Amino acid sequence: MAPRPTLNITPQLHDYVLAHSNQPDDVQRSLIEETARATGNAATMQVSVDQGVFLTLLARVMSARYAVEVGTFTGYSSLAIARGLVDGGRMLCCDVSEEWTAIARKHWELAGVSDRIELRIAPARQTLASLPRAPIIDLAFIDADKESYIDYWEELVPRMRRGGVVLADNTLWSGRVVPGADPDGNPMTEHIAAFNAHVAADTRVDVVLLTVADGLTMAVKK
Ligand SMILES: C[S@@+](CC[C@H](N)C(=O)[O-])C[C@H]1O[C@@H](n2cnc3c(N)ncnc32)[C@H](O)[C@@H]1O
Repeated sequence: MAPRPTLNITPQLHDYVLAHSNQPDDVQRSLIEETARATGNAATMQVSVDQGVFLTLLARVMSARYAVEVGTFTGYSSLAIARGLVDGGRMLCCDVSEEWTAIARKHWELAGVSDRIELRIAPARQTLASLPRAPIIDLAFIDADKESYIDYWEELVPRMRRGGVVLADNTLWSGRVVPGADPDGNPMTEHIAAFNAHVAADTRVDVVLLTVADGLTMAVKK
């Protein structure tokens, strides 16, 4: 059977997708606006609205109790995950920027989830290495410096419970991961391609690379 190509997501089709999914509430809209105002071009690092809905629903269907995020920025994805946790659930957020995460803290407070989130300002590899090496994590989201994705993966996978989910963002890297699709040879492309190969070869997980936004890898611990 010939492979069926995935849809070409035009801006109109993306608008349609958003119109037929949960809408951002006032706090999320405020967070999108403040991120655009305060961070300029960096605002493009924020996960998309549909990814945010997906994160909340995934945490909810998993009844996630303990989540870890690597790369928090101004807090959109962490807010989405925190909202999906079970009552009494906890989340650990890793970032190196006090400035960007101040916006996150403000919006976690506005959304009433700040009591379930611990933010550690330090290189994420250091924070992850300090966690107990026990299978305690239900849901992990990797969305920080691309050159360290494999290191984050190797810190997280042993700490995932059976059936736990690791997500990694930007794993299609605007399509440049396909051999020959990045003639300029951006080192980030190589890092993401190496991560994708590493994950696909890892027998500890089942994996699917979803064509959501800029590519969202979803791996389930066996
Ligand atoms: C793509 S943004 C995260 C976007 C976020 N998930 C959201 O939805 O808004 C990447 C973040 O990773 C952080 N970062 C970069 N290097 C890091 C490191 N070594 N350790 C922890 N965080 C890091 C940056 O400060 C930045 O906030």
